[in-house]
Amino acid sequence: YHKYTAYPAVGIANRSWPDQTITKAPIWSSVDLRDGNQALPVPMNVDEKVAMFQLLVSVGFKEIEVGFPSASATEFAFVRRLIENGLIPDDVTIQVLTQAREHLIRKTFEAIKGARHAIVHLYNSTSRQQREQVFRMNKEEIKEIAVTGTALVRRLKEESGSAGIRFEYSPESFTGTELEYALEVCHAVMDAWGASAQDKIILNLPSTVEMSRPNIYADRIEWFCRNIKERDAVLISVHAHNDRGTAVATAEFAVMAGADRVEGALFGNGERCGNMDIVVMALNLFSQGVDPELDFSDLPRIREVYRKCTRMDIHARQPYAGELVYTAFSGSHQDAISKGMKAHKMSSDGIWDVPYLPIDPGDVGCSYEAIVRINSQSGKGGVAYVLEKDYGIQIPKWMQPDFAEAVQAVADRTGEELSPEEIHSLFHKEYVTLK
Ligand code: KIV
Ligand code: ZN
Repeated sequence: YHKYTAYPAVGIANRSWPDQTITKAPIWSSVDLRDGNQALPVPMNVDEKVAMFQLLVSVGFKEIEVGFPSASATEFAFVRRLIENGLIPDDVTIQVLTQAREHLIRKTFEAIKGARHAIVHLYNSTSRQQREQVFRMNKEEIKEIAVTGTALVRRLKEESGSAGIRFEYSPESFTGTELEYALEVCHAVMDAWGASAQDKIILNLPSTVEMSRPNIYADRIEWFCRNIKERDAVLISVHAHNDRGTAVATAEFAVMAGADRVEGALFGNGERCGNMDIVVMALNLFSQGVDPELDFSDLPRIREVYRKCTRMDIHARQPYAGELVYTAFSGSHQDAISKGMKAHKMSSDGIWDVPYLPIDPGDVGCSYEAIVRINSQSGKGGVAYVLEKDYGIQIPKWMQPDFAEAVQAVADRTGEELSPEEIHSLFHKEYVTLK
């Protein structure tokens, strides 16, 4: 085994965020077409990117990172297609990523010519690891890359005469960067841009590699929000990857710690273990009664377009979106769901409060049909529920254990799930035809 060191915690006195909750959706930015796309075995072609862009617009994203146009001809052609074919709604801002290198920044500006609203997203890596191992540069030299890049973006924006161009800066690998140094770089970037409350910039602090528990990342965000020299002149954005499997928690804690904006991707697509899954974070808000300001009312359609464009599968147990997440197999769960659904129908307050179903599957376009399936694990409640729901047959309580046993015997013998039709015909065979 190699040795690993613990990730350093930042002690913050008078911490306030653990008591807070999230009461409003953050500003969302989708990175499906950039971070998501760059991690695909087969990247999307221009038509697929257009289809994915239209999906993201229909979900309600107002900021969409559409690619890295200076990095490939396809990316460049896609951005041009969006602009020249008028595919960008007035209230949507496209975002384009660029490294802090002169020829790439210039090419990026060529790509966005004519866009009404665009965010130029500049990044350079600031971590100790990358400074020492990749760039072999000291802290001053790395800071200089960020400052020179920012100044050039500022100049090209002025030259373009486009008031619709905004600026985002990411100290990439922020999670591996000394906090005071990251702040120093961001302050230098703010100065180079001339950031102010009237001309805010986005400071995106990525968890490029998830290296700590979510609360520790959130401590860093809180520290940053407290120590930034002019909080009003910046929007603090977070961009979490999922290497430890906690990207959603990371983003949630970060918002509680003061972040204004969250970048992520549908179903967590992205480099390695993926980007923060926006579907999950948005529906977590939704299930707590907070309007996520994104529309996931037709998850099957969203899944379908996503699968077609990315050629990626969605795990059957993916929160909210997996094929099996609204299915109960065990008898006690089925019984509880059946009782909960009945109580819900009778109640007048409209509040969803059904055991084992954190949200109403219908709210995300999933069907009630899939909720109860009958197999060898099912109990009497589930079997009775299926008969009543699908055939309007209410079997008396005394008959339920006996019939459930008959159903289980078939399921045990075949090892298969029984469809409602099979249950119905078994019911006929047991109680109508013969008896
Ligand atoms: O993960 C990351 O740090 C990135 C940056 C380019 C923002 O994707
Ligand atoms: Zn990323």
